[in-house]
Amino acid sequence: MLACSEAAYGVRYGEAARDRLLERFDGGDVRCAVTGDGELVGLAAIDDVELTVPGPALLRVAGWSEVAVAPTARRRGVLRALVGALRAEAVADGRAGAVLFASEAGIYGRFGFAPACSAARYQLDLARVRLRPGPAPAGRVHLLRPNEAASALPAVFDAARRLRPGEVDRAAGAFATLLEPTGPAGAARFVAAYERSGRLDGYAVYDVGPRPGGRPGRQVELVELVAVAASAEAALWDHLLATDLVRLLVTGERPVDEALRHRLEDPRALETVAVEDHLWLCLLDPAVALAARRYGAPGRLILEVRTESDPPSRLLLASDGAGSATVAPTTAPADLVLDGAALAAAYLGGTSLGSLCRAGRVQEQRPGARSLATALLATEDAPFCTGDV
Ligand SMILES: CC(C)(COP(=O)(O)OP(=O)(O)OC[C@H]1O[C@@H](n2cnc3c(N)ncnc32)[C@H](O)[C@@H]1OP(=O)(O)O)[C@@H](O)C(=O)NCCC(=O)NCCS
Repeated sequence: MLACSEAAYGVRYGEAARDRLLERFDGGDVRCAVTGDGELVGLAAIDDVELTVPGPALLRVAGWSEVAVAPTARRRGVLRALVGALRAEAVADGRAGAVLFASEAGIYGRFGFAPACSAARYQLDLARVRLRPGPAPAGRVHLLRPNEAASALPAVFDAARRLRPGEVDRAAGAFATLLEPTGPAGAARFVAAYERSGRLDGYAVYDVGPRPGGRPGRQVELVELVAVAASAEAALWDHLLATDLVRLLVTGERPVDEALRHRLEDPRALETVAVEDHLWLCLLDPAVALAARRYGAPGRLILEVRTESDPPSRLLLASDGAGSATVAPTTAPADLVLDGAALAAAYLGGTSLGSLCRAGRVQEQRPGARSLATALLATEDAPFCTGDV
């Protein structure tokens, strides 16, 4: 499995990555594609994942990762066979969907996946930063030692990931990887935590190191900022932006609706370096997935969901106005016709129905259905997945 993975990704794993993968592969949650004469030509790891959906509510989905096909067997349908087997297993296990991070954006659309969350990367020239005060802080920021961080971070993450659509749960072992320094030579990793009444409400993991190209001053690279309250998020940003000697702050993946922008007197100081697709979602059981999330308006909508593999399903979604909805099969005429991947794109609130309509991925069959669907699916925050590490 390790050899197949190394060849597929074109890498040789270092000792730490090797140990992590061997442990994962030995754990057994891996499915392999093997030829008739016993050659292993492909593999994929599977996980039980809890996905936060609008509400917030939690949805059990399958997580697929480490997908690899040997370069000697590529483009002969091995991935297609793996996806078929993984999908059948997930459906049999009662998973309403599957999530993954895609190495390339052209691979998974054909299997009913769509990007359900985007992620942005930013940079901030600290000389341009003048901040409006954030929500009044009731606590304080302090630095955690690595052993303190290892024991404290999982609970904070677990509380925070339940609040924002798009987040997924994370195995405790992943925090060891998060705390290992990965920055450039000469960079040091720190963990700042926001504490209120003896409780941690948020943390930021970041590296402070030299600027590339020998430029003067130092730079902060934000690895992860996670908070359960706006006051914690604001106080952690205050801390990061007040680091002495630092000229530039660059971030890893962050929400596209980064709240910090609205605290900047000069919002252009938060420069968007890139916006990319992030978590990909496939709705294996649209009826269960639609009933699991909550809705922003009352109304009745009939959706016809078309997929490559299954006959179209026509579903009546009846939202009671208090957030809940019932979803049931119907034979009545559809209000909106859409492909399964388009529904996955809109499901967490990360893609507007208007843009999917303009792209021809959603067709309005009854006037007003599109604006009703937009009101139903509306969410307060853009979905975001802090991501695996
Ligand atoms: C990407 C990868 C898994 C594809 O496996 P594969 O066995 O060659 O794929 P299949 O032969 O089953 O292809 C299925 C379909 O996907 C298409 N496809 C496969 N890889 C693709 C890619 N990188 N970009 C666009 N389309 C791709 C094939 O053309 C085929 O299309 P078709 O059914 O319309 O003819 C394999 O090339 C690989 O391991 N790459 C390196 C590691 C990697 O990127 N893994 C994915 C991690 S998310």
